[in-house]
Amino acid sequence: MLYENPNIRKIAVLTSGGDAPGMNAAIRAVVRATNFYGKESIAVYRGYDGLIEGDFETLTARSVSNIIQRGGTILKTARCKGFFHAEGRAKAAENLRAHDIDALIVIGGDGTFRGATALYEEHGICVAGIPGTIDNDLAGTDYTIGYDTACNTVITAIDAIRDTASSHHRLFFIEVMGRDAGFIALRAAIAGGVEAVLIPEHMITTDELIKKLETGAKNKKSSSLVIVAEGGKSGNAMEIAQKVDEQFSYYDTKVTVLGHVQRGGTPSCLDREIAGRMGVGAVEAILSSKTGVMVGIINNEIAITSFAEVVKTKKSISLEMFRINEILAV
Ligand code: F6P
Repeated sequence: MLYENPNIRKIAVLTSGGDAPGMNAAIRAVVRATNFYGKESIAVYRGYDGLIEGDFETLTARSVSNIIQRGGTILKTARCKGFFHAEGRAKAAENLRAHDIDALIVIGGDGTFRGATALYEEHGICVAGIPGTIDNDLAGTDYTIGYDTACNTVITAIDAIRDTASSHHRLFFIEVMGRDAGFIALRAAIAGGVEAVLIPEHMITTDELIKKLETGAKNKKSSSLVIVAEGGKSGNAMEIAQKVDEQFSYYDTKVTVLGHVQRGGTPSCLDREIAGRMGVGAVEAILSSKTGVMVGIINNEIAITSFAEVVKTKKSISLEMFRINEILAV
């Protein structure tokens, strides 16, 4: 397939929302693919804030050397309030036109894509998106950039906590990120070998949890680990730990909240690989006149899904994974 579109000469790229490991690899891929196809690449700094303020810079293939292995985003990011207002979006579109920018690639989560949709629907700006969030809560892709690295960070922490938990005969509640989705929690539960996992999509009651822990105690477990996904209706790890501790005293109970440590660090091989593929895919989507679409990967193939579809669809979590963890935690 030929990717020649004379109407597109300059392609801008930005990162928006929470940063995620692998975003730099995606920026590199976008810039290099843009250059490969003979187009000019423009950086937009600080997400939509930078778009409204015209914080732009030309990037070359060399500008993105030595960033593939770095966490965070060299373009900086922001959760931009100004983009919720029509005037902010109008200013952004005006800045893009003033700089002769023909297309924009946004790297981020659903909020980022909502902003991009408005830009395209209200101002006819050609936009494509790349899923970048540790939460993996986006339809239209099996993996979002950053999710794999975050899961690896979580299991490294679980391994360390298990050492101290089993030395002290303790029960640990480990709270992980994910906003209101349990993808990090569930994958890390299986990979980390924990006794129980509480996710917003499938909560269990305190009584059910205690029953599980009692079974573990009967089976002579020297410690127990429970992963709690933030955003669950039953509360956070601290509240749940308190409730359990009041009724179950077999172990000494502790809580660890992993927090923003999950957002940083060297991106994993998987995150770098998908970032590279999605980055090239996004440039090729733009050059084949697609707009208002996210470039994801489904069943190891590039998959193009409209922003409208991505933002309206709730990605389903595999409850089969939940069942597997029950079996493994015996
Ligand atoms: O969306 C990514 C994420 O890390 C969520 O898991 C978390 O709920 C949120 O961002 C935290 O946002 P902030 O860094 O703005 O506190």
